[in-house]
Amino acid sequence: AAVEAVPAIVIGSGYGGAVAALRLGQAGIRTLVLEMGRLWNTPGPDGRVFCSTTAPDQRSMWFRTRTEAPLATFLWLDVVNKNISPYPGVLDRVHFDAMSVYVGRGVGGGSLVNGGMAVTPVRSYFGEQFPTVDANEMYGTYFPRARAMLGVNTVDPDWFESTEWYRFARTSRKAAANAGLKTTFVPNVYDFGYMQREAAGTATKSALAGEVIYGNNHGKRSLDKTYLASAIGTGNITINTLERVRDIRRQADGTYLLTTDRIDAGGAVVGTGQYSCTYLFLGAGSLGTTELLVRARETGALPALDASVGTGWGTNGNVMLGRANHLWDTVGADESTIPVLGIDDWANADNPVFAEIAPLPMGLEHWISLYLAITKNPERASFSYDPATDSAKPGWTAAQSAVSVSMAKKLFDRINAANATIYRYDLFGSASKAFADDFTYHPLGGCVLGRATDDYGRVKGYPRLYVTDGSLVPGSIGVNPFLTITALAERTMARVLAEDTAP
Ligand code: FDA
Repeated sequence: AAVEAVPAIVIGSGYGGAVAALRLGQAGIRTLVLEMGRLWNTPGPDGRVFCSTTAPDQRSMWFRTRTEAPLATFLWLDVVNKNISPYPGVLDRVHFDAMSVYVGRGVGGGSLVNGGMAVTPVRSYFGEQFPTVDANEMYGTYFPRARAMLGVNTVDPDWFESTEWYRFARTSRKAAANAGLKTTFVPNVYDFGYMQREAAGTATKSALAGEVIYGNNHGKRSLDKTYLASAIGTGNITINTLERVRDIRRQADGTYLLTTDRIDAGGAVVGTGQYSCTYLFLGAGSLGTTELLVRARETGALPALDASVGTGWGTNGNVMLGRANHLWDTVGADESTIPVLGIDDWANADNPVFAEIAPLPMGLEHWISLYLAITKNPERASFSYDPATDSAKPGWTAAQSAVSVSMAKKLFDRINAANATIYRYDLFGSASKAFADDFTYHPLGGCVLGRATDDYGRVKGYPRLYVTDGSLVPGSIGVNPFLTITALAERTMARVLAEDTAP
């Protein structure tokens, strides 16, 4: 097949990819975005683009015959997951030995499936993780830019205090307060004005109809509505969907040559593509970008990649857990899917934890308080390449997850003691499992800023090759990560467009 030559290519259309695409397009550089997932803009037979969490169909997950929701069971019954037919659905769960990783698939990447929490990291911890990045510039310029571009807003506190839809969060806040812990409001990209109209019955329900991990049909400002819409608006961006990059190499003239697999809705490879470009931006996410680079190094396609490529990977210390409230501490049958409160104990030097108060919308009173704890787990893993399967995987172990669990347990033991409550043991599949320690929503690292790349995401050893996504973050950032990923990508693009692309 003929090689298609373009000035710039961006791999992936999540946060890192979307920022790169917009800024390249604005700079007048013709850019091709290659995304393995589909474009989510066409209603299915039910009139909706995305399916709901309660009645998942083929749109829910990436080529599965059964859904794999984070909460596997309720009262130990396998009532949550449903059989589906294989299709390029929006949520993927990538399995490794002791850890599986949830990621979004489609134009918009993780923004299509995530909880929308847009959290600025604690400044001192950001400084610890990124000692060579000018924090003044980040907190003065790039975090504000990212918040504005992503459409970050906050829940109206008066409405929060009065609405049935956040009773679950108020109940968890009370339990935390009883243990002397403080909670904080968490900003979000979900339009809270829209949510209030949902509650008032004047807008079609989305967050108030259980929609989130398989996509929101309304209200969520996902990247296809923000960065990517503006990128398309520049007239310089083309997005190819259902096209997965397999191979990257560098040609004698210094351009990059990419080989792709084009897949159909059944997952069959129906063709391959070849593209060459002068500038190559990797935004395939922590797993995607790290695998592409580890494969390129180990197969000899990009042999000069630094030894640190594939190292420094972590789960952001993620652990999910549930507590059983007393009968009089109701959470309500109505729960918004969009979290707005976090328990902030990050300043506790003995056991730093930031725990999001998560919804569990089931349409009935279940007395469960659910949490996603982000712990300061110092463990990191490295990727290894397997030539037999041509894939790379992080060697994360169960013992490394146990570190996150013990930190989460320390915090929630305090909350349980202060409230005379207990954990729920029926939510995560196997009997008596109180902590979901085998999945993460926050894969981070693999191509860490300042190690695998220079301080601006330029890959060491390869001019005009850049990383702009979550693989730059060294395994932990202490809060939900997409705002940090977006702000770092803005910083990289500002520098690269000023220094590297001038004629
Ligand atoms: P991201 O994963 O967004 O995008 C990568 C894209 O590249 C994907 O579209 C993928 O299909 C594509 N791709 C990968 N390999 C490819 C290849 N070889 N060829 C072509 N395309 C390829 N964070 C947060 O801050 N607040 C929150 O509330 C949440 N909540 C949350 C809930 C759930 C269910 C999940 C799964 C995740 C979250 N997150 C979150 C995490 C957040 O979504 C995540 O950190 C970012 O999406 C990561 O952004 P990246 O740009 O790194 O990659």
